[in-house]
Amino acid sequence: MVEGPCRLQGAVQISGAKNSALKLMVAALLGQGTFSLENVPRITDVQTMAEVLESLGAGVVFQDHRMEIRVGALHGRTPEHLVRSMRASVQVMGPLLARLGWVEVALPGGCAIGSRPLDIHLAGLRQMGASITLNGSRLVAEAPRGLRGADITLRYPSVGATENIMMAATLAKGETVIRNAAQEPEITDVQAFLQAMGAQVEGAGTPVIKVKGVGELGCAQAAVMPDRIEAGTYLLGFLVTGGEGIVSKARPEHFAPLLNVMRAMGATVDVDGDQVYVAAPRRLRSFGLVTKPYPGFPTDLQPQMVAAATQAHGASELKETVFDQRFGYLTELKKLGAVVRQKGQKVTVHGPVRLKGAELKAGDLRAGAALVLAALAAQGTSVIRGAQHIDRGYEAMESKLSAVGACIRRVEEMGGSTCSMN
Ligand code: EPZ
Repeated sequence: MVEGPCRLQGAVQISGAKNSALKLMVAALLGQGTFSLENVPRITDVQTMAEVLESLGAGVVFQDHRMEIRVGALHGRTPEHLVRSMRASVQVMGPLLARLGWVEVALPGGCAIGSRPLDIHLAGLRQMGASITLNGSRLVAEAPRGLRGADITLRYPSVGATENIMMAATLAKGETVIRNAAQEPEITDVQAFLQAMGAQVEGAGTPVIKVKGVGELGCAQAAVMPDRIEAGTYLLGFLVTGGEGIVSKARPEHFAPLLNVMRAMGATVDVDGDQVYVAAPRRLRSFGLVTKPYPGFPTDLQPQMVAAATQAHGASELKETVFDQRFGYLTELKKLGAVVRQKGQKVTVHGPVRLKGAELKAGDLRAGAALVLAALAAQGTSVIRGAQHIDRGYEAMESKLSAVGACIRRVEEMGGSTCSMN
């Protein structure tokens, strides 16, 4: 439950990146021994991935923000219910195929942000000698004689496919080149971890990644990089509520496109090491943007930008080019009074509009974050159902927001009624 309007003011500390932590956990499946990860975010997707690793035979101890993963003998069958609940589970295919020569994963569950095929993952693994068949809703991949290196060009710079193939290649025979690779910073985090385990991999963060297969890998320790999407979400929280504040323990160079758009909207934005200060202008200016693979504007901040656009003067135009159905949350924003119009992959937002609290439903993680931002700017009480989606990728959102002045509380569903905000 969110009471608005409020003016956020203060400092928010950024947690470890969900989309790095999940991949470092998977990379451990390639090695042997005890791994330790620091700065691991306490989010439910990390808990789910820990269960996936344990179901494969690894041991996981997760205390505070520190995780220990013990890897010995493994098997390659992932539990159906876990893969359905989190698409990132398919990341285990590459490592297990390379290590065991076989892996069986359920097809990932339908996702609220459009169709998300795996063709790029499978094409790359097949080029490395895997035979992959679908029986029922399970993908069975085998490489009885091991994987061999290949020169692979991705048809689209898929983040997950880049990581899956890169990890598989570390134990393949010979050299693998991945062209048109995704360049997201989380992939660079994975590369450093693999190198620390003894892998010969280079080029992450550029469109060409080269891997020389080795016989086996050891273990390593690492600190998860800060979450650039969490940082962007809270910066937009200060902006949309006409406030000012600082995010700390961030890596500003990972979200430069957002800082540029916020400056174009008239905000004051100062970067100082791992801190970013933002102050909203009296009049927020409208803007235009197109989401793109890194280093372009990140699709994972698109919903939050639309929420901010409701308070900007004029018409803002956003185009989504990464996912084919990532506007589901617009119907919810309209319940708050937002004036938004979608045409295909484009949305136009007219502002500023005085939003009014409403009963809302979060469909996915970033949509949920966008609804919270809009509710903070809205007049009156908003109830956002589906908060469990938000918990997948945001650590303790309500306490981080309360600490900077938000009036936000988590309540249990009580039949149809909702308790009054007091
Ligand atoms: C990762 O998903 C992130 N998730 C997503 O963040 C992020 O939005 C996405 O990358 C893009 O940056 C994790 O890292 C766990 P893709 P991923 O493969 O790897 C299509 C969040 O909120 N595609 O780069 O699944 C796909 O349908 C999440 O933290 C194929 O067509 O993204 C999509 O349209 C949401 N075939 C586009 O490519 C394939 O084989 C980008 O997908 C693979 C992908």
